[in-house]
Amino acid sequence: MLPFRDTSEIRLPQSPLEQVIGQEHVLEIASIVARQKRHLLLVGPPGTGKSFIANTISSILPRPTQQIAVLANPENPDRPILEVKTAEEIERERREKAKARLLDPRDVPYYVSEKLGFRCRKCGTISDPDSNICLYCGAEKYRKSRNLEDVVAEVPRLSRDDKILFKRPGPDGREEEVFYERVGNKVKMYKNTGKNGADELRKVIVPLERKVFVQATGASESELLGDVRHDPYGGHPNIGIPPHERVIPGAVHEAHEGVLFIDELSTLGELQRHLLTAMQEKKFPITGRNSTSTGAAVRVDNVPCDFILVGAVNINDVQSLLPPLRSRIIGSGYEVLLNTVMPDTEQNRSKMCQFIAQEIVKAGNIPHATAEACERIISEARLRARQIDAKDGLSLRLRELSGIIKMAGDIAILEGAQLITHEHIKKAVLRARSIEEQLLDSYGSAYRAGMSDYGHKRRPGYSSEVR
Ligand SMILES: Nc1ncnc2c1ncn2[C@@H]1O[C@H](COP(=O)(O)OP(=O)(O)O)[C@@H](O)[C@H]1O
Ligand SMILES: [Mg+2]
Repeated sequence: MLPFRDTSEIRLPQSPLEQVIGQEHVLEIASIVARQKRHLLLVGPPGTGKSFIANTISSILPRPTQQIAVLANPENPDRPILEVKTAEEIERERREKAKARLLDPRDVPYYVSEKLGFRCRKCGTISDPDSNICLYCGAEKYRKSRNLEDVVAEVPRLSRDDKILFKRPGPDGREEEVFYERVGNKVKMYKNTGKNGADELRKVIVPLERKVFVQATGASESELLGDVRHDPYGGHPNIGIPPHERVIPGAVHEAHEGVLFIDELSTLGELQRHLLTAMQEKKFPITGRNSTSTGAAVRVDNVPCDFILVGAVNINDVQSLLPPLRSRIIGSGYEVLLNTVMPDTEQNRSKMCQFIAQEIVKAGNIPHATAEACERIISEARLRARQIDAKDGLSLRLRELSGIIKMAGDIAILEGAQLITHEHIKKAVLRARSIEEQLLDSYGSAYRAGMSDYGHKRRPGYSSEVR
């Protein structure tokens, strides 16, 4: 007997780590991997929690401390400059900018207060910048537009600026640039540290605020290693897109200071070599990957990519991993086999109920399950352990069980039931059978089923056997 009426009474663990069931040996390693920044190879059949575990590793990592950007390089546009800033540096700059002084328009140079719309160019009196007529002498504060079209259409054009860059001698005698910006009826002044003026000349490719879990498939080289987009104008200074803006980070860079999860690691093929280099160097250049594109001329070297690699493979594919990659993982990390079955103990049965409650909460749109329904799932897990893995215990191929729970939930909703009952589970188990099992039921064998698709006339040679 289970100690609850339905799964709404089960208290779910807050930490993602505790939500993983039946793989305690992996979790122990997972927390070492996260703490010591090692790599991890998870080996096991589908649906046993490889992706789930990779995710939990990222959930216990500290927040990233670095931001990666590329800057325009005026001397050599095809070699954008790499810039790595720490959280402290970014914070300090932000504070400095906020500290920018607010001045009275009387205290800024005449030229500046005129341009910002405060000062009358005729009598020199300061007035509301939104009024284009001097309140003192009645003169127009802004010079009329000389544009012929505007004159003809009699459109009053204001020549008022919101922000101007001003050169003045700095404290060290050298010329420095300061910005004056109109903020209400005050003037904000700050130094042009390159940051404000040069925002257009910088592209942040890996921001400070980012996800520390990055999943990559082996589908494309650009996705994994980054790329430089093509520009039909070849980055022409006036009409093209400047090279630094076309730089795109790869998954290896986005996973900097985080987890790079690669499902079916063996399908990476030749890319495994590049991945290995990235892991060894902890930096990887970004360059155009298509040799016929103008992006191929652009290159940023040494872009940081210090990630924790978590790779997942099926048991049969372990052999097709690139040996040096595998030995790199073992050399600075771990490889573990996931359990497919756990012992049928009271503790594990209650873990199974926790799993059921978790899946229901995660799905969000299905009702909770009765204790009886949970018993039914547990028997299904027992059956599957025996049928699929020829072992006694409870199956940990949980994705399939999760599918049954959701399907039973849908049936409960259709029937307008308040809870998922064992009847709903029973129906869902029947419905969830694979095509092979369904064919077996209706035709006695998949072979016969296939034959009946063709019809005896078109396959005369087989017709007598089939019938
Ligand atoms: N060990 C586990 N503990 C809890 N839930 C699990 C576990 N394994 C799988 N699941 C559930 O099944 C779903 C699919 O698992 P997943 O991690 O994608 O499997 P895999 O990557 O091994 O194919 C998960 O999102 C989770 O809801
Ligand atoms: Mg997966």
